[in-house]
Amino acid sequence: MRISVAGTGYVGLVAGVCFAERGHQVTCVDQDQAKVDMLEAGRAPIHEEGLEALMRANREAGRLSYTTDHRGAYGNAEAIFIGVGTPELPDGSADLSHIAQVARQIAESIRQDCLVVVKSTVPVGTNHKVEQFIHDFLPARADGRKLRVEVASNPEFLAQGTAVRDTLQAARVVIGTDSAWAEGILQRIYAPFGLPVVSVSRRSAEMVKYAANNFLALKISYMNDIANLCERVGADILEVAEGMRHDRRIGGHFLGAGIGYGGSCFPKDTKALEHLGRQHNYRLRTVQAAIDVNEDQRTLLFRKARNRLISFRGLKVAVLGLTFKPGTDDLRGAPALSNIPLLLEQGALVTAYDPAGQERCRALHPEGEEGEGGIRYANSVREALEGAGACFVFTEWPEILSLSPQDFKQRMRTPLVYDGRNIYDRLAMLEAGVEYHAVGRRP
Ligand code: UDX
Repeated sequence: MRISVAGTGYVGLVAGVCFAERGHQVTCVDQDQAKVDMLEAGRAPIHEEGLEALMRANREAGRLSYTTDHRGAYGNAEAIFIGVGTPELPDGSADLSHIAQVARQIAESIRQDCLVVVKSTVPVGTNHKVEQFIHDFLPARADGRKLRVEVASNPEFLAQGTAVRDTLQAARVVIGTDSAWAEGILQRIYAPFGLPVVSVSRRSAEMVKYAANNFLALKISYMNDIANLCERVGADILEVAEGMRHDRRIGGHFLGAGIGYGGSCFPKDTKALEHLGRQHNYRLRTVQAAIDVNEDQRTLLFRKARNRLISFRGLKVAVLGLTFKPGTDDLRGAPALSNIPLLLEQGALVTAYDPAGQERCRALHPEGEEGEGGIRYANSVREALEGAGACFVFTEWPEILSLSPQDFKQRMRTPLVYDGRNIYDRLAMLEAGVEYHAVGRRP
């Protein structure tokens, strides 16, 4: 089928490339010419394993192109997927201005019947509004015939770092349509993927995305809550999680306690769902609890360290890991970014290391003086530890995971470690003479 995709960020680009990979004829549209030039040169604007190889192969096969010309791209598409951003507004709601802009361009450009599919995460009811919006802006045709344009929902469940695999081998594809015509088109688009398709109404599909993300966020906050209690009663959250995960009703994923969730989805989607509830006079107490626990959890280790050290002034502090999780260069919602300003304000001399997120962090916190303290960036994880009086672990990158107790003991001036991801062997650290603090572990 001839498919156009609006937006070449995480959602749009990965979807477009994967549709081409499954044999469709795809045009990716972005308003930013520099980005289109980059894509045409075979480079992806995001750090995602396997994506550039697929971009090259499908471009060579003639199934994938990029353009800023939305008129040409939308004009004769059979389906147009919208994958633009819906960032968080100050009141917690989702900003739909990019969606509205694309919807208007679609209305002005299409020349044949077409299904518009929203992949971006949008509040329940948005697809209906987008459909009305497009109809309002559809120009009258010379032949008097009205074009058939419907809007369907097809939420995206990919996680950063595994985006291509999550799309090509998704556990399920959720399609939300309110007509057999729209459902038929989406079934045809996804047939070559050979994946289970869950077909529901548009509003249910919109809700599935929020409900699924919030459930995962809730799971993490619940484990963090239990971890905090474990510390107080002398239990160990890793042992507790091990005892829980074998129960298939609970499952083994997202039971990892630590310094909380970050990223471009969970922090934003929890607030957006809570906001949607408030708009409809319903207080989502579980979601609010997940948000509150996560907010506190992010700075838990900083507060522990401040109590232990009394002052950070002039103390060399190693910060290992900046991104919100390994396998990405994304700093959005990253716990490290909540802690670095606090450390600098308190006069710490931070040496940070991250294999992918350092450049982005440098733009926010350039090397030099800041607050009472200062920050510099190390070339390796071991260099960051040299002479440090305390160390915080915020992201479980492989090179950080593979540090041994001896690395901390021998390189740090005082081997005092705050592990926000619960990744080290507590007893081995103790035996090596490292003072080790984690989340929800036995003291
Ligand atoms: C998430 C969802 O997984 C994905 O389905 C959705 O489409 C977008 O949001 P992503 O943000 O890429 O994907 O990352 P994910 O791997 O889910 O991790 C999110 C955050 O939760 C990270 O900060 C991670 O460190 C944290 N996390 C995850 C925990 O703290 N504990 C866990 O057990 C799992």
